[in-house]
Amino acid sequence: MAEAGQDGPVLVGVIGGSGLYNLEHLTPIKEVNPETPWGFASSPITISALPSGVRVAFVARHGTAHNINPSSVPTRANIAALKSLGVKAIIAFSAVGSLREEIRPGDFVIPSQIIDRTKGIRPSSFFEGTSIVGHAMFGEPFSGQLVSLIEPLVKKELETEAPGVQLHTDKCVVVMEGPQFSTRAESNMYRAWGGDIINMSTLPEAKLAREAELSYALIATATDYDSWRVGEEPVTVAEVIKTLKTNADASRKVAAALIEDVSNALLKGDVITDGEGSMRYSVITHE
Ligand code: ADE
Repeated sequence: MAEAGQDGPVLVGVIGGSGLYNLEHLTPIKEVNPETPWGFASSPITISALPSGVRVAFVARHGTAHNINPSSVPTRANIAALKSLGVKAIIAFSAVGSLREEIRPGDFVIPSQIIDRTKGIRPSSFFEGTSIVGHAMFGEPFSGQLVSLIEPLVKKELETEAPGVQLHTDKCVVVMEGPQFSTRAESNMYRAWGGDIINMSTLPEAKLAREAELSYALIATATDYDSWRVGEEPVTVAEVIKTLKTNADASRKVAAALIEDVSNALLKGDVITDGEGSMRYSVITHE
């Protein structure tokens, strides 16, 4: 690892999903593994530097050896650990199934909405087990400011580095409980509900980022057509793995292209502030 050098702020956190276990082309500076009240993160957190000196924190959601299934990800620890490092915005990556013909395997998607099919199954609040009653605003589950900032950057990066890969925006991600994939009937139901893509990981991550007052955006990469397509085999792991490596290579380039601009925006303090203070009126207190 390179020398730690001067300790600049780490404002951006990247959470890598299936296939994205590191940001290997950046220069790693150090690895940290802070213990949080919710235990340790899925993986030690790698702090890397860009040539400009800007730093980024990276955590592999499923562990670096992909040994944590989506239902067991220690999401509270992941979010708390990133927050403890000073992170203010999280860019999460995730492999997803496509529920729409036009979202082809290999394509990128930045969603704006979520349908929760994990409710009541996974711990999804920092307030659980406490006497605090908090209700975060979640009507807009992603940070509008962060999404607006990254969308054109992702588009430009894909045009130059991955020609042919489309970016789809303003879509709805269904987050389902695994580990099994959906039945054909479920897949069709999600389409009828307005779902565009499906994964097992964006919740409770997005909810906990909101409670931690961190701006959060998802960059999803399509790997398969789930199970709805008539005349096609339903999704299998083999299908998902086919595009995982290409998607991960493109994701690393996209991540690197974003970190600088997002960090600078955060440093200036005049954008991406919608996470901060968002819980101010969310906790019910006694008069
Ligand atoms: N992750 C990648 N493809 C998926 C699918 N079809 N369903 C749920 N999660 C996924």
